[in-house]
Amino acid sequence: MIKIAPSILSADFANLERDIKRVSSADWLHVDVMDGMFVPNISIGIPVVKSIRKCTDMFLDVHLMIEKPVRYVEAFAKAGADLLSIHLEADGPSGISEALRLMDACGVKKAVALRPITSPKAVIPYLEQLDMVLVMTVEPGFGGQSFMADQLDTVAQIRSLIQQYNPACRLEVDGGINTETARRAVTAGADTLVAGSAVYGAADPAMAISALRG
Ligand code: DX5
Ligand code: ZN
Repeated sequence: MIKIAPSILSADFANLERDIKRVSSADWLHVDVMDGMFVPNISIGIPVVKSIRKCTDMFLDVHLMIEKPVRYVEAFAKAGADLLSIHLEADGPSGISEALRLMDACGVKKAVALRPITSPKAVIPYLEQLDMVLVMTVEPGFGGQSFMADQLDTVAQIRSLIQQYNPACRLEVDGGINTETARRAVTAGADTLVAGSAVYGAADPAMAISALRG
């Protein structure tokens, strides 16, 4: 089943509770955490995740765009994340493995994320233990960018690795998703769709969510 995960990066942060309620028909809430190092932008941190947790029961899909995420796994888990995505480019193999081990210890679901430049094969050492792989379909850092169609090939390759190593693992795409690119990503093998501007830029976010479901 396709899951839709609106990204609150495109919400009005001064009216976050209102904007979270506006997307309550979605499956997950996607929370983009940026540290100004791994990506040039700075966005949401631990106290905000904690406040979001208090105002919604939605599944919190927290995308960590931060260097050495192992440092913050416990803090984001305690703040209320249900799933953490860490970037494979954000640390060496021992740091990534340790971060995944900590996620297990904290009882949060585990995902790794890939920048567009990263080879799909990079997920193989971790794939059997993952709940999700996140394929970026834009350069991480900002909402509102155009979908990188070249990433459809990465999505297809990750789908075939998932079928081979861990069929229960979800495959999320993030960046430039609208009704048209959503269809292409799903055809390539995605089952979880992040959408920021396509949901929050719409006059009726609930209608945008149902349009993304196809
Ligand atoms: C970008 C973030 C995305 C972003 C997507 O680095 O990871 O989640 O909010 O925004 P849209 O859907 O507008 O491309
Ligand atoms: Zn994201």
